[in-house]
Amino acid sequence: MVKICCIGAGYVGGPTMAVIALKCPSIEVAVVDISVARITAWNSDELPIYEPGLDDVVKQCRGKNLFFCTEVEKHVSEADIIFVSVNTPTKTRGLGAGKAADLTYWESAARMIADVSKSDKIVVEKSTVPVKTAEAIEKILTHNSKGINYQILSNPEFLAEGTAIQDLFHPDRVLIGGRDTPEGQKAIQTLKKVYAHWVPEDRIICTNLWSAELSKLAANAFLAQRISSVNAMSALCEATGADVTQVSNAVGKDSRIGPKFLNASVGFGGSCFQKDILNLVYICECNGLPEVASYWKQVIKVNDYQKSRFVNRMVSSMFNTVSGKKIAILGFAFKKDTGDTRETPAIDVCKGLLGDNAHLSIYDPQVTQEQIQRDLSMEKFDWDHPTHLQPMSPYGVKQVNVVSDAHEATKDAHGLCILTEWDEFKTLDFKRIYDNMQKPAFVFDGRNVVDASKLREIGFIVYSIGKPLDAWLKDMPAVA
Ligand code: UDX
Repeated sequence: MVKICCIGAGYVGGPTMAVIALKCPSIEVAVVDISVARITAWNSDELPIYEPGLDDVVKQCRGKNLFFCTEVEKHVSEADIIFVSVNTPTKTRGLGAGKAADLTYWESAARMIADVSKSDKIVVEKSTVPVKTAEAIEKILTHNSKGINYQILSNPEFLAEGTAIQDLFHPDRVLIGGRDTPEGQKAIQTLKKVYAHWVPEDRIICTNLWSAELSKLAANAFLAQRISSVNAMSALCEATGADVTQVSNAVGKDSRIGPKFLNASVGFGGSCFQKDILNLVYICECNGLPEVASYWKQVIKVNDYQKSRFVNRMVSSMFNTVSGKKIAILGFAFKKDTGDTRETPAIDVCKGLLGDNAHLSIYDPQVTQEQIQRDLSMEKFDWDHPTHLQPMSPYGVKQVNVVSDAHEATKDAHGLCILTEWDEFKTLDFKRIYDNMQKPAFVFDGRNVVDASKLREIGFIVYSIGKPLDAWLKDMPAVA
């Protein structure tokens, strides 16, 4: 029986290994993590991450050929294939701070593998890593090899949160990069056989190591770039009276462009896009390519611009001040169907409003109060460094209230803003909400989920990203 061990039981490692176990009953899969709390959760009825369909997959295999445990070294030493799926956050200090990937967790995983291994291993990079990380890992392993043969593969994961199980069941492609040597090619084939249990062979792409590593950064950069492109257009649409939904629909009909990832929004979030682009920018700078670096940096700049533009629009429409006013925030997660708040645009929007002394009443169907309070009191990039979480909120606790439904959040509020496209926000009783709000009552839709004309009929002043502006908003221009 082939044995797989995955180091890291997070958003990528957990679901990916569960699907491998489901699709490959002949393979034993152990997911290991040093966090006792996380492993306990994986072994309970309350999985540590919310992902549609995941519960079902885990229930079918857990205890049969899928195991979650903290005995890291035992499972690493017994495995034939070791996936490494640990955090690679952005460095917060030292060389490359704010841009480069922090490979501390990766390096210690590699050293531990070298320490405990007694037989040949295939080591698979699953975390998104900078190009040439495999080479560094290979050096650590071979310099400590004790005669053991290690083959390093890069097998980046393209799943998106909220659709992880579907993405894993039907991937657009599986990418496996390895050394161009007979041993490297053999290792590629071994991993390919695992995926071939359910992925058509023509969707399994084999490349060299560097291409696989770079493809992951490039794919995320391209996706984020589409969003920044459409968001840049949304500002122009507002200025000219065009409608961004109509523009992106027309643009996306071009088969060379395609319709996906062209929804204007308050900005993209999530653990990957910003981090990977910063990483790409850093690699370009290190390789003497400042023009390429600044090209990609612009994608992040536009994303930041979009968030501050949104806050400015809110403040300027509400008579240039939100000081002391209650504002309802509907949605805090970085997108719907997840409780994940990493790099969510809601953090920057809320901090912007708090900076103008607003009182926030926040509701999200999946994000806990503790999480929201923590996010609003942390510095950028701290979220992925759980060991040094600390700074206390510069904002008074009273300024932020987390509540358990949209009606409570909006009661007596001057304005409400929608920051996550949760389906339930489309069907809220807006008449009731309007009646309970201060007047004039404002809606700022950062995801274009509500029917603006219906809301205007009720009496709201409505701002929708990239849509023609109300007379009111035209009279109160936002300064970006
Ligand atoms: C992304 C990639 O899609 C995935 O392939 C990679 O493995 C990890 O990073 P994820 O971060 O889970 O996945 O979410 P995604 O669905 O890509 O959305 C990212 C952000 O972009 C969200 O904040 C989303 O709301 C926003 N978005 C997406 C838009 O603003 N407009 C769009 O048209 C699409």
